[in-house]
Amino acid sequence: MSVSFNGKHLAKFIRPEEYDAIYPQVELAHAQLENKTGCGSDFLGWLDLPLSYDKEEFARIGQAAAQIRSDSDVLLVAGIGGSYLGARAVVEACKGIYHNDTEDGLKIFFCGNTISPSYMNDIIKITKGKRFSINVISKSGTTTETALAFRVLRKLLEDSVGPEEANKRIYATTDRAKGTLKQLADSQGWPTFVVPDDVGGRYSVLTAVGLLPIACAGIDIAALMQGAADAREKFSVCSPENDAYRYAMTRNILYRKGKTVETMAAFEPDFTMMNEWYKQLFGESEGKDQKGLMPTSCIFSTDLHSMGQFLQDGSRTMFETYVDIKTPREDFYIDTLEGNFDGLNFLSDQNMSIVNRKAMEGTILAHNDGGVPIGLIEVDALDAYNVGYLIYFLWKACAVSGYLLSVNPFDQPGVESYKKNMFALLGKPGYEDRKAELEVKLR
Ligand code: PA5
Repeated sequence: MSVSFNGKHLAKFIRPEEYDAIYPQVELAHAQLENKTGCGSDFLGWLDLPLSYDKEEFARIGQAAAQIRSDSDVLLVAGIGGSYLGARAVVEACKGIYHNDTEDGLKIFFCGNTISPSYMNDIIKITKGKRFSINVISKSGTTTETALAFRVLRKLLEDSVGPEEANKRIYATTDRAKGTLKQLADSQGWPTFVVPDDVGGRYSVLTAVGLLPIACAGIDIAALMQGAADAREKFSVCSPENDAYRYAMTRNILYRKGKTVETMAAFEPDFTMMNEWYKQLFGESEGKDQKGLMPTSCIFSTDLHSMGQFLQDGSRTMFETYVDIKTPREDFYIDTLEGNFDGLNFLSDQNMSIVNRKAMEGTILAHNDGGVPIGLIEVDALDAYNVGYLIYFLWKACAVSGYLLSVNPFDQPGVESYKKNMFALLGKPGYEDRKAELEVKLR
């Protein structure tokens, strides 16, 4: 099985009757999704996306990626939130966090996801003497972080190759018909790709938002979609055995028992950005109406040397979900060392993945004994097919989890508050009253 949920380390914390008791609510959530009658049903485009995606655009994405890989040394991907996390997560999960150094050919850097001037300057330095292209990704076209970075990068590109050639090297992923970016792209003749109206940012990685950068990284996007399609079929069955629903039920049962924090953990650094993507997916979907589990993440064993103490022994407010990756991208054989001067020969003559697995098993047992409920999401490998499968599993679990919590899992009204304050403090026209009010508070 490609992706499954294993609850064997939850037995001490959840009784079978508790799943039975909550299951009717899952049936209701399932029906609301299938019949599009629940909250946020305008944003269910992701449900059938792995089958119904635009095949003509998919082919254009492949062609654009081939073009970028042939005419560029560097691709700068400008986007934030849902227009950033998924692409980077899949690229790093499949290719590793050092893919720019370990692989020949196109280097991919993400920007437009911060207002740090140091980061901006680093990105500019990276382009020095390089042939580069830009993929600007913004549904609205007006997101400050992305628009500001794009303004700088576009000028950099025009100064480097001239406006005409620059126009051939800018790829815009944005709204199908409206918005500043769409208008600009059309007026300049940039190739455009669509962020569908019925797919929210955190559900957009399998649209052009994620697919173009992912294809540029040389990842098989057809396999990615196939994994998601197979997961769609698997997790569309309404049953207590549906693993996506089992995971959603587990989260909700534990939440009701006061476990208000979930820590997603993997013994694999390649999963770091998938963790970030998970945090947006669940955090934006559930954290509203003063409710929701707080999604947090760790990479082990690294973080066992920082968060390990708290997880073992701190306040018992969390549960852990381990992503158990069955096969590493590349294994490493540990040789015996003559003389055994470091005393580590007990680890030798085996693959490092075995050592990593024993570390995981030891951690699970220790944390379990420390009172931490632990669920396992088992994944065959971090390749395109299985990552596509995992993405769909998490989408489905998240949607049902949100409905179990009685929130709209597809909106994110809370993210506007910081923007309004930022605009006011920066003197954006129209925010004058708020500016005065905020400045008093800052005194
Ligand atoms: O999930 C979301 O909707 C957000 O994270 C957005 O994706 C993010 O704010 C970027 O928005 P846009 O694509 O309009 O630039």
